[in-house]
Amino acid sequence: MPVVIRPLTPVFAGEVSGVDCTRPLTSVEVAAIEAGMDQYAVLVFRDQDLTDEEQVAFTRHFGELESYATPGHIRKNADARLPTRGIADFSNLDKDGSIMSAEDRVWFFKLADQLWHSDSSFRPVPAKYSLLSGRVLPSWGANTEFADMRAAYDGLDARTKAEIEPLVCLHSLKYSREAIGFTELTEDEIAAFRPIRQRLVRTHPITGRKSLFLASHAGAIEGWTVPRSRMFLRDLTEHATQREFVYSHEWRLHDLVMWDNRQTMHRARRFDDRNEVRDVRRTTLAGDVITIEQLP
Ligand SMILES: [Fe+2]
Repeated sequence: MPVVIRPLTPVFAGEVSGVDCTRPLTSVEVAAIEAGMDQYAVLVFRDQDLTDEEQVAFTRHFGELESYATPGHIRKNADARLPTRGIADFSNLDKDGSIMSAEDRVWFFKLADQLWHSDSSFRPVPAKYSLLSGRVLPSWGANTEFADMRAAYDGLDARTKAEIEPLVCLHSLKYSREAIGFTELTEDEIAAFRPIRQRLVRTHPITGRKSLFLASHAGAIEGWTVPRSRMFLRDLTEHATQREFVYSHEWRLHDLVMWDNRQTMHRARRFDDRNEVRDVRRTTLAGDVITIEQLP
C-alpha cells in the first residue's frame, strides 16, 4: 500500500495512512516517511498497537537511537519501570505501576515538559526525531501541542531576522526546571546540566529552510545579560507559539506521533495526573548535526 499523508493544518503536521509500524518497512516507505517529515515536521500514525521492541525497531529505520551517559541522573536505573533499551518512560507511573507521588522529584522533572521545548536541546548534539506512542490515555486533557519553528521564523520581520542570525543561546535542563520553581537539584545533576551552546537560528540540512531553535531549556543568550536574554526569548516564544503555528494533537489509543525536533517545539498539556494513568513511551533518534561548537 502506498504511503499517503493528509495535512492536519495549513502549515504543517500530517496524518499518515498505508503504514503498519509493527512490521519492517521497505526502503520506499522509509523514503516516503522521511520526505514527509521534511515537509510536515510532525507525522501521526493511527492504530499502531506497538510493543516496546516494535517501537524501537520502527524508530531505527530512520537512524541511530540517541544514547548518552547520565551521571547522577534523575531516575536511577533500579527505579526504571520499562526494561527495553531505548524506550523512555513518559508516564506518571512509578516502577511498581502506581501513580507517582505528587512529591516525587521524578514527577517534578516531568511537569516541566508542559513548557514549550525541543527534546535534548540541552545536549551538544540535539535530537533529530522523537516518537511517542500512546499506550494508556486519560479520559481528559493530555494533548501534545506542536509549534512549527519554520513558519515562526518566516513570520518574523526582517530586522529581527537579522538580529537573531548570529545569536547563540545557552540550554540546560536546569533553566526549564527553574522556570516552574523546581530548583532543588543535586550536585551531580548541576554538573550534568552544564549549559550547552546552540544557535538560535538553524537551517534544515535537506530543505534549507531556516527555523527558530527555541526551548524552555534556553536560559541565556551569549553576550547578553540574563534578564534581557530571558525577556527576548520569552517574546520570541510567544510569537512562535501563536495558534496559527500550532497543531494540538488529541490522542487516540495506539497513536504513534513522530516529530522533528530541529523544526518544531512541543509541550505536554495537563491531565488529572493524581487520579488517571497516562502511559506514553518515547524513542528518540540521535541528531546528526551540531548547531555550533561547544566551549572546552
Ligand atoms: Fe519533549
